[in-house]
Amino acid sequence: MNELRYLRQRRSVPSRLLADPGPDAAQLRAMLAEAVRVPDHGRLAPWRFLAIRGEARHVLGERLAARALQKDPATAPALVDKDRQRFSQAPLVLVVVGCPVPGHKVPVQEQLLSGGAVCFALLQAAQALGFGAQWLTGWAAYDHEILRQLGLREGELVLGFIHIGTATETAPERQRPDPDALLAEWSP
Ligand SMILES: Cc1cc2nc3c(=O)[nH]c(=O)nc-3n(C[C@H](O)[C@H](O)[C@H](O)COP(=O)(O)O)c2cc1C
Repeated sequence: MNELRYLRQRRSVPSRLLADPGPDAAQLRAMLAEAVRVPDHGRLAPWRFLAIRGEARHVLGERLAARALQKDPATAPALVDKDRQRFSQAPLVLVVVGCPVPGHKVPVQEQLLSGGAVCFALLQAAQALGFGAQWLTGWAAYDHEILRQLGLREGELVLGFIHIGTATETAPERQRPDPDALLAEWSP
């Protein structure tokens, strides 16, 4: 099964271990070109991307911290600080925005699944180019005020914040589920 070697090596690199350099313009474009090559029922392309890099990462972090305190003024300073830093580690965070078309004959579930495949394809493309990446959400992905500040339109969702950069350490492997335990034979 040597052909699967590359896929078998895939793993996330935690965002705190991601540093400069991030992808350059050509690498970013190449990654996005792979990411949009996903199964997409109805060819709706029900997703889009936002790149957060440079100073914008810190601005978003400040807004997260402010929002956390607005929602709960008693939030522990350490947690507020974590929110402040959330987008400042990796040099690039790609927001994968799901834009499902309601009422279409392709169910919204399938449109969102296609967006999930986009997120995963980005992880693979980043790793193929020698970068580390991690797919994160966190509370910010579900907070209407943060979504508004990101410029999402009504009905759009954050499917993932894909943090991408150069790994400063080898990420530890984790225990993977046993596929045999997950497989059953359907018998009519
Ligand atoms: C939709 C989605 C959202 C996730 N959000 C978070 C998150 O907010 N925080 C976190 O620690 N891991 C989150 N993860 C898990 C990491 O992406 C990743 O799976 C984990 O770091 C293990 O790495 P692996 O990809 O090598 O299994 C999320 C995964 C998915 C699929």
